[in-house]
Amino acid sequence: MTIHIGAKPGEIAETVLLPGDPLRAKWAAETFLDDPVCVNQVRGMLGYTGTWHGNRVTIHGSGMGMPSLSIYANELIRDYGAQTLIRIGSCGAMQPHVGLRDVILAQTASSLSTPSSGMFRELSFAPCADFGLLTAAHAAAQGKHVTTHVGGIYSSDVFYDERPDLNDQLTRHGILAVEMETAELYNLAARYGRRALAVLTVSDHLDTGARLTSVEREQSFGAMVEIALTAAFS
Ligand code: HPA
Repeated sequence: MTIHIGAKPGEIAETVLLPGDPLRAKWAAETFLDDPVCVNQVRGMLGYTGTWHGNRVTIHGSGMGMPSLSIYANELIRDYGAQTLIRIGSCGAMQPHVGLRDVILAQTASSLSTPSSGMFRELSFAPCADFGLLTAAHAAAQGKHVTTHVGGIYSSDVFYDERPDLNDQLTRHGILAVEMETAELYNLAARYGRRALAVLTVSDHLDTGARLTSVEREQSFGAMVEIALTAAFS
């Protein structure tokens, strides 16, 4: 047990999928895993361990934003020995050619700051995905006929942002989408020598204001979980 995770030693798999929403973790575990067992309920941040095609997997909520993800990823890595961590979540598109329901594989994650910024000080570290996971996820997505984009994303500290000028610069520099967790996941994976990737589904578009309904979100979320699981065990 750790401060934020109630699982006993050995109850967390080496491969962990991290949706932001704990109820998504429950849904994904019950939908895709065999014999899912709830291993964490502390603060309502649900985690489940089961098997997928015979491989042990934990699906655990990360909460919203990098400080929350940092707590769970630190404990999963340092206390439970997680080796492969794949964020599965939603994002807002920042390019005209990126549409609702498209899948984005985050090659890099830019940010204004992360929980690691205080430690990095003047260093502008470049958080990036594990190349093996990235290529495996790309192959898995091709097999699913999901429109997939690989490139840079922006990990923001705010959902309700007040910097349209910054968004303009990010769009100008080819950033595909915005979310709120991946940069710190990649920082931690680099620090501890683990594999990490973010597989994201576009739930809304910053320019047009278009957004998925909750039913559409659930359907698209399924493709993303399968891509993440296939990549983890390729
Ligand atoms: N901003 C930040 N995070 C997000 C968004 C957004 O528009 N959509 C989904 N996650």
